[in-house]
Amino acid sequence: MKEMLQSLEDRVVLLTGATGGLGEKLAMDLAAAGAGVLLHGRSPTKAKAVIEKIAETTGNPQLGYYNAEFSSLEDVRRMAEDIRADQARIDLLVNNAGIGPGRRGEERKLSKDGYELRFAVNYLAHFLLTHELLPLIRASDSARIVNVASGAQQAIDFDDVMLERNYDGRRAYSQSKLAQVMFNFDLAEELAETGISVNCLHPATLMPTTMVLETDFFNATVDSVEKGAEAVLHLAASSETSGISGRYFEGKTPAKADVQAYDQEARERLRMMSRSFAGYIDR
Ligand SMILES: NC(=O)c1ccc[n+]([C@@H]2O[C@H](COP(=O)([O-])OP(=O)(O)OC[C@H]3O[C@@H](n4cnc5c(N)ncnc54)[C@H](OP(=O)(O)O)[C@@H]3O)[C@@H](O)[C@H]2O)c1
Repeated sequence: MKEMLQSLEDRVVLLTGATGGLGEKLAMDLAAAGAGVLLHGRSPTKAKAVIEKIAETTGNPQLGYYNAEFSSLEDVRRMAEDIRADQARIDLLVNNAGIGPGRRGEERKLSKDGYELRFAVNYLAHFLLTHELLPLIRASDSARIVNVASGAQQAIDFDDVMLERNYDGRRAYSQSKLAQVMFNFDLAEELAETGISVNCLHPATLMPTTMVLETDFFNATVDSVEKGAEAVLHLAASSETSGISGRYFEGKTPAKADVQAYDQEARERLRMMSRSFAGYIDR
């Protein structure tokens, strides 16, 4: 049976990576529930098609689009500025955009700023975006932030954060996803007194989305995109999770993340490094 969601009428949602897969499904579900949905994507053509489909299916006219290539921190910062110029508040931020593990033997790639690509797109871009949008999130009376992480998590090697040695796409993906979880726990502590909840999750296992279908690391899909979307909505809008913050879930169940996520010293190292990359402190 479908879970009861809190009313999303007049709520403003920003969803990264809404041009396909889980993000597109979430955009559809949130629009169907009456929310104003701001879709982020890097392809205006894909975004236009998704928005047309959602508008036609749901009849909800409150749909917006913001463009940014997340491998560029400058682009992320510019998108946040655009959003701040247009919007008075954000009630729900879902950090969902991501690149999967890629194909076996694929070469290491760098972001426009010279960081390992998966670390940059899956984690660092969202670190910057979330901080840049905090004034709008604080303007909501009951905001939620959901970080779409993964059960694929691998401890960050602080001697080789950018994976310069023995590059492997699966390791790059897993490290970036654990970085997201560590950021989630930090941010929840930082915002503890504000009423803003910050939770992260493994949405579902091997959903048939682009990032899974394009990889040769796996040879089967397991869960449906619908199942993943339900798990995200459980954290994003269910009364069952109201007031819960700083937690990691597997699907709808509270779970333990990789042990490094609870290591304050490791989190401090990642936080300082990220603040420096984002330009918040001098290098
Ligand atoms: N699929 C799974 O089984 C699974 C399992 C656990 C966790 N997850 C997580 O779920 C989230 C959604 O993934 P998905 O499975 O829906 O994958 P997907 O279908 O490949 O969607 C990824 C989304 O991220 C966007 N994106 C990728 N690179 C980008 C960049 N450089 N700049 C801006 N946007 C970018 C994509 O845009 P384009 O459409 O332009 O490529 C797309 O909208 C990810 O965070 C992933 O780690 C997925």
